[in-house]
Amino acid sequence: MGLESAIKMTGIVKKFPGVVANDHVNLDINFGEVHALLGENGAGKSTLSNILTGLYRPDDGTVEVAGAKVEFNSPRDALNAGIGMVHQHFRLVSTFTVAENVVLGESDSSIFMDQKAVAARVKELSDRYGLAVDPSARIWQLSVGEQQRVEILKVLYRGARVLILDEPTAVLTPIETTELFKTLRAMVAEGRTVIFISHKLDEVMAVSDRVTVLRGGRNVGTVNTRESSTRDLASLMVGRSVEFNRVQRAVPAEARSVVLNVSDISAHDDRGRVALQSISLTVGRGEIVGIAGVAGNGQRELAEVISGMRPMTSGTISVQGENVQSGKARSAIAKGIAHVPEDRLHTGLASSHSVEDNLALKNYRTMSRFRILKRQSIRAQSTDLIERYDIKTPGSHTPVRLLSGGNVQKVLLAREFSALPKVLIAASPTRGLDVGAIEIVRERLVQAADSGVGVLLISEDLDEIMSLADRILVMYEGRIVDEVPADRADRERIGLTMGGIKV
Ligand SMILES: Nc1ncnc2c1ncn2[C@@H]1O[C@H](COP(=O)(O)OP(=O)(O)OP(=O)(O)O)[C@@H](O)[C@H]1O
Ligand SMILES: [Mg+2]
Repeated sequence: MGLESAIKMTGIVKKFPGVVANDHVNLDINFGEVHALLGENGAGKSTLSNILTGLYRPDDGTVEVAGAKVEFNSPRDALNAGIGMVHQHFRLVSTFTVAENVVLGESDSSIFMDQKAVAARVKELSDRYGLAVDPSARIWQLSVGEQQRVEILKVLYRGARVLILDEPTAVLTPIETTELFKTLRAMVAEGRTVIFISHKLDEVMAVSDRVTVLRGGRNVGTVNTRESSTRDLASLMVGRSVEFNRVQRAVPAEARSVVLNVSDISAHDDRGRVALQSISLTVGRGEIVGIAGVAGNGQRELAEVISGMRPMTSGTISVQGENVQSGKARSAIAKGIAHVPEDRLHTGLASSHSVEDNLALKNYRTMSRFRILKRQSIRAQSTDLIERYDIKTPGSHTPVRLLSGGNVQKVLLAREFSALPKVLIAASPTRGLDVGAIEIVRERLVQAADSGVGVLLISEDLDEIMSLADRILVMYEGRIVDEVPADRADRERIGLTMGGIKV
């Protein structure tokens, strides 16, 4: 094309206490391309995009936008230069309408806003890019996927020519992901630029034109997607070749005693609609039971009900014969239920506290049994967990909020897995993790089961379920619609039942 670059970053350095998050990164991004940023947890992807959007100032290096050198002091500066960020954690006002949210923050918006003109412009943008959403709907009425569309509309409305999306698909269902990709392709077809951050190699292969891989804060290569493969990208990312093997499990032959017994439970979702309808299931000692299903079919509510975070409207839950009280998290914990929620932002971690304290929170009671908080044993345990889970942190005293997204997730997993529960509810435990970390988490999950924990694994990732579970249940519209032992699982059949088709 011979055009100047949309974005040219040269020699970017950003240091934090104890880490060099970006280490002389050079990056060249064209107009009209989807450019993927790939890298392990803590590789420096979010830091780089925060520099591009004016949230951080680099310690060294230069940024050029369309051939002109820029220095940003705030996200507003970046937006004025045409660079907008679509945040994963939405910053929308839930009681406002879509149109109101789109103009919110515009300099002279609120008072003189011409409602009709705004709604018309929003409608035009949403038609043009396939971002279906009703401008007059209120945010709380929208699904997560629709809310993300509002975030995209917001930056488009402000005239962004470069859009950065940090792990946008982590919150989407497969269908929503496909729709998002269509939108992204429509935007680059018009000459805009999309920077797409993801851990999912197949998504990167499907949507991007080029890929830049970061490792340890450095750019280790930029490749044309068409000339690359998931295998190449994975080994660039971790610096070695990665094997995607089925985890070998010694399935105990004898009938396992039941640890978790869920009997005939029903529950409502946040909007008061029926989310679970008469669900019954059991998990045996040392067994991994997988729940397959498209997101939004009651999986989240099921995990919440079992872990006492959501009341049930009928039914009973027991652990080794002892009843768990409805809607009482403390009762669930006391009976030995641990829970890794899918939403890693509201994980029950104390983000301003140290990695060490967070790793210890669950074991607090045992460790301080004699009313003495045993600092030494807390420290020893945390050092051990940091190593076993490969948590990338400058030290065990670093506050959790300073870790990268994936490493925060590892802290939570390490804590819940090591709490020696009887039952472990793991909801999408590897979402947002890089390939190396996924290997580790899967191994630890299998180890937990091998040591006798009953595991309920909830995931939309069918490959994950098929490679780990002993038995697979399929959820659809709040019910269990199918059950198959893993060794006789048929991908196609599960796929069909997940979509509500009876086989
Ligand atoms: N505000 C901050 N203060 C201190 N350290 C930080 C800060 N932000 C990031 N870091 C550190 O910089 C490094 C890079 O983090 P970054 O968030 O950019 O990684 P990432 O590639 O986005 O990872 P993930 O895939 O897990 O989201 C990490 O070691 C992280 O702990
Ligand atoms: Mg990140």
